[in-house]
Amino acid sequence: MKVLVIGGGGREHALVWKIAQSPLVEKVYCAPGNPGIADLAENVPIKVDQLEKLLAFALENGIDLTVVGPEQPLSLGIVDLFKEHGLKIFGPRKDAAIIEASKAFSKDLMQKYGVPTAAYGVFTEIAAAEEFIDRTGVPIVVKADGLAAGKGVIIAQTRAEAMEAVTDMLSGNAFGAAGSRVVIEEFLTGEEASFLAITDGTVILPLASAQDHKAIYDGDQGPNTGGMGAYSPAPVVTAEVHEIAMREVLRRTVDGMAAEGRPYQGVLYAGLMVRDGQVKTLEFNARFGDPECQPLLMRMKSDIVPVLLAVANGDLSGLSLEWHQQATVCVVMAAEGYPGEIRSGDAIEGLEAAAVLDGVYVFHAGTTMKDQRCVTNGGRVLGVTASGENVQAAIDRAYKAVSCITWPGVQYRRDIGKKAIGRI
Ligand code: AMP
Ligand code: GLY
Repeated sequence: MKVLVIGGGGREHALVWKIAQSPLVEKVYCAPGNPGIADLAENVPIKVDQLEKLLAFALENGIDLTVVGPEQPLSLGIVDLFKEHGLKIFGPRKDAAIIEASKAFSKDLMQKYGVPTAAYGVFTEIAAAEEFIDRTGVPIVVKADGLAAGKGVIIAQTRAEAMEAVTDMLSGNAFGAAGSRVVIEEFLTGEEASFLAITDGTVILPLASAQDHKAIYDGDQGPNTGGMGAYSPAPVVTAEVHEIAMREVLRRTVDGMAAEGRPYQGVLYAGLMVRDGQVKTLEFNARFGDPECQPLLMRMKSDIVPVLLAVANGDLSGLSLEWHQQATVCVVMAAEGYPGEIRSGDAIEGLEAAAVLDGVYVFHAGTTMKDQRCVTNGGRVLGVTASGENVQAAIDRAYKAVSCITWPGVQYRRDIGKKAIGRI
């Protein structure tokens, strides 16, 4: 069969890498793809928000299955559009993707269906937000309602910071329309985990556990990013935590979405905060996490294609997923300035030396070709991913590969996976 993957980041490189290994697949296309993906698939120069062009491409090229990576086309309704034309596509419809596209929607859903989450309020007026902040105290968390590429969350340590965030968002200065409503919530402490599951709206197939590293600097310091590294399995997700997450978070959410008339099909990603065995939900995403997808797919033993196809057909029953025992770690290498204003166009040195290392795969994200050289072209540039017989072995391999690669201003965290070691 022919598969089209939509997106061009590290997550999509990992999806293409995994899908291309399936004996069911004869050809993979990726729109728009990136130079790393070009080794495995045919890149198609169509952007992820050009839905009509993507549809025309899929129809003209006899695509048997489309897999959507990022949130933007999902929230624009790509799944609805493709299904209207009789095409098979993996991902939630627009009215279900709202679970990520609106934080106010997802918090209200959690409250209605008893999914554990932080106490919160939704505000469009500064005065009401101020009153909530004064009542709750600091630290407090201010979130833009809409999509903000993982950057619309401010953890305010002081009342002044909280009010500044609210004022910036509600006035439209920060995040435009995405910030015209804000969610303000109680600050939670604990350790985060990324809990992903594939669902057809009824059956829920959990993926292996994973943990992201959101902050830009070591020790979880500095501003949040889209994610600076990830690993799997995450020991913070004990058997008990897994069971609670399945019962109280995934089951209630999937059933709640069905009860709302918005059946959820695709990957449901729950960002969890775990503390003393208690689980609270920070957020939902309507897609694979990036970079979590890279270590997760490297650990996935089963062919992913039958599972993606089953969800596109609306029936996952009877399918399961197997995982390699080995641990996997992904270290993100980012451009100077990220997550703020970035520098791009720098030649990346050492990709070949890293590629030949055992158990290592370098997923591309923000890269492009210039004068026949691979150069930086985005905030998160590469996801250097490695497997090993335990987390430490995977960390050592990943950092050995990282040490082969460089460009001016490169930045990466030195402590990816360290929390897992602390727990073993
Ligand atoms: P979200 O996009 O809602 O997951 O928020 C991004 C990041 O902000 C999370 O991964 C956490 O690190 C942090 N965060 C979000 N909500 C809270 C909260 N209520 N308490 C503490 N940290 C939070
Ligand atoms: N790595 C976090 C996310 O994909 O939202």
